[in-house]
Amino acid sequence: MKKKSFIFLAGHKGLVGSSILNLLKGKGYKNIITVDKKKLNLRDYKKVKKFFKKKKIEYLIMAAARAGGIIANSTYQKDFFLENVEIQNSLLQLALDKKVKRTIYLGTSCIYPKFAKNPISESSLLSGELEKTNQCYAIAKISGIKLSEALFHDYKMDIICLMPTNVYGDNDKFDKINGHVIPAMISKFIEAKKKSQKSIKLLGTGKPIREFIHSKDLAEAIFTCLNVSRKNIKKIFKKKLPIINVGTGDNVKIKDLAVMISKFSNYKGKIKFDKKSPDGTYKKNLNSKIIKKLGWKKRINLKNGLKEVVLNQFSK
Ligand SMILES: NC(=O)c1ccc[n+]([C@@H]2O[C@H](COP(=O)([O-])OP(=O)(O)OC[C@H]3O[C@@H](n4cnc5c(N)ncnc54)[C@H](OP(=O)(O)O)[C@@H]3O)[C@@H](O)[C@H]2O)c1
Repeated sequence: MKKKSFIFLAGHKGLVGSSILNLLKGKGYKNIITVDKKKLNLRDYKKVKKFFKKKKIEYLIMAAARAGGIIANSTYQKDFFLENVEIQNSLLQLALDKKVKRTIYLGTSCIYPKFAKNPISESSLLSGELEKTNQCYAIAKISGIKLSEALFHDYKMDIICLMPTNVYGDNDKFDKINGHVIPAMISKFIEAKKKSQKSIKLLGTGKPIREFIHSKDLAEAIFTCLNVSRKNIKKIFKKKLPIINVGTGDNVKIKDLAVMISKFSNYKGKIKFDKKSPDGTYKKNLNSKIIKKLGWKKRINLKNGLKEVVLNQFSK
């Protein structure tokens, strides 16, 4: 990818998209194309088609999606399904028509079966039952992988599917109900401190184990994949669609994550768990050998990254 390449970054305002935007700008990329959701709803195929007609697009990064935490995922299954399928269908079909040089499709670790063997490797896809609380999101994302596979095999489209683990960072949705686990917890701690609450109630048993990646590290992984040579990809994947996990090995029990956030928040009250609420999959930790082989490595460890995010939120 050249500094003058035309890169359409879909979803540039989101947690992941904004990190990629900062990274590309910082590296001196001059032709990054972005568009606000208000101006272009990516679910609207006809409008997206017009947009693709008008613009020069050589690379496509698909960071636009409906994403959220366990409550949002289980409450709005229909929306998670339709929005993701429609966005990815529009973008993938048009990337094919436009003969985009490389497309980066963003999936998620939620696509893997609930009882997949940890660390979860890419080959676990569709090898078992999915977690119920986010099955519509997972199936929508899997359908995007399967469409990518068809485009890759039948039309020789250059496409790389990345499956990141749980992402956190500054530009997250700090919503105590619909947010992902880290921003939802931080929002609860901020509220508890403001209201001088003696205790705080968090979702689930606190026992599940999750792996986290800072959005800046994920942006680096996406950048690695935009630039890796086709020859290198072929060497690893032979004739298969490249599906690549992106995880850090920073695994932590939800209970311990809560303790870390309470320390960084300087919250002295009690942490309680609402054991009646869902836990989701017990353990999700990715095998990330391939992305490391391609030269990517994490730079931000969870403790430092989380501390910075918590302090930044408290200072707002
Ligand atoms: N966050 C995680 O933990 C995580 C983990 C694994 C994989 N991923 C994947 O990474 C990708 C990015 O996730 P994220 O966390 O950055 O999500 P996010 O913060 O919710 O950002 C999503 C972006 O997509 C845009 N968008 C949503 N629907 C749109 C539509 N119909 N038309 C145009 N734009 C639309 C949003 O615009 P508005 O801001 O205007 O709504 C926002 O800019 C997703 O594919 C997600 O599945 C995320």
